[in-house]
Amino acid sequence: MIPVILSGGSGTRLWPLSRTQHPKQFLPLVSENTMLQDTWQRLVGSPALGAPIAVCNEDHRFMVAEQLREIDVKPRAIILEPVGRNTAPAVALAALAVPPDQVLLVLPSDHVILQVSVFQEAVSQAEWLALQDCLVTFGIVPTHPETGYGYIKRGTALAGPAYPVAAFVEKPDSATAQAYLDSGEYLWNSGMFAFKAGIFLQELEKFNPRMLAVCRKALSAAERDVDFVRIAADIFSTCPSDSIDYAVMEKTDQAMVIPLDAGWNDVGSWSALWDVTAKDDQGNAIRGDVLTVDTHNSFIHSENKLVATVGVQDLVIVETDDAVMIAPKNRVQDVKLLVEQLKQNK
Ligand code: GDD
Ligand code: MG
Repeated sequence: MIPVILSGGSGTRLWPLSRTQHPKQFLPLVSENTMLQDTWQRLVGSPALGAPIAVCNEDHRFMVAEQLREIDVKPRAIILEPVGRNTAPAVALAALAVPPDQVLLVLPSDHVILQVSVFQEAVSQAEWLALQDCLVTFGIVPTHPETGYGYIKRGTALAGPAYPVAAFVEKPDSATAQAYLDSGEYLWNSGMFAFKAGIFLQELEKFNPRMLAVCRKALSAAERDVDFVRIAADIFSTCPSDSIDYAVMEKTDQAMVIPLDAGWNDVGSWSALWDVTAKDDQGNAIRGDVLTVDTHNSFIHSENKLVATVGVQDLVIVETDDAVMIAPKNRVQDVKLLVEQLKQNK
């Protein structure tokens, strides 16, 4: 099994810590390791584990190479995208780089999974199903009506540890998310998948032949050196952009979902990071030089200055070298609007 670690995302909802040049997957947000390193570390001990393929943006090549070196991982390849075209082309490039009968385990590099052994058990089950030519997805048993995740509706007939997939739905509004939670038929889309490289490519050929053709051409024109596979910009920039969920998983009739209840969180927002961080008696997650009086259920991160609060609750306060960001915890999804404005003002 070959892990394909996707690390081309920008992590904008964790601004001002996560930056274009240094997105969240390269930060030690929840442990001493970076999220990219944790992605590999939680697989160690899984049977049949091959060297991983990392797919990332060209700008981040040294960070990826260095962070893998730090944990003694020698990747099978580091594929460099000149521009981001979302996850479907990234996975296609990896699938084209290996023999078709190899099972790929596609892993985003920005997740937390607390119960590693439960996860590893699901990975073994997924590998077995992938060997039967299924396209397997890991569906997280939801704990609240989250609007920052996509959902998977599961079919009814249980086949071993898995269900057929009835539908994928990308990030719903909160009323819809609540209805999904109440129905008991929906799982969160974790963005992790397992399938044979050849089966994925066969399905991509059916649903988006142009994407596959561009990826094939871009990979064969790639420059290779000892460390990197550099995808040609003139070809890859013509690739249609789409997520693996939309491009393949929601269209194929070979999709199966394995429910996973392993303390998963994608740390997609400040409130998600608050969820997975140890808290004081008042429910505050605190990092750095912080003083609080009558302050509750807040996330306060300080890098340089003393940050002091009185009589506030449910806030996120993040102080870095060049920015201070303050938001109520229930508005953290909108941090991306700040980042959009910053980009416009540039
Ligand atoms: N190589 C590469 N190239 N990686 C990419 C690209 C790209 O163009 N775009 C995104 N990624 C990586 C990110 O680094 C991340 O690890 C993963 O793919 C998912 O991308 P995100 O941008 O983090 O997506 P999301 O969190 O908004 O939504 C997806 O993941 C959720 C779970 O974490 C969707 O699949 C949701 O449905 C899902 O619930
Ligand atoms: Mg994400």
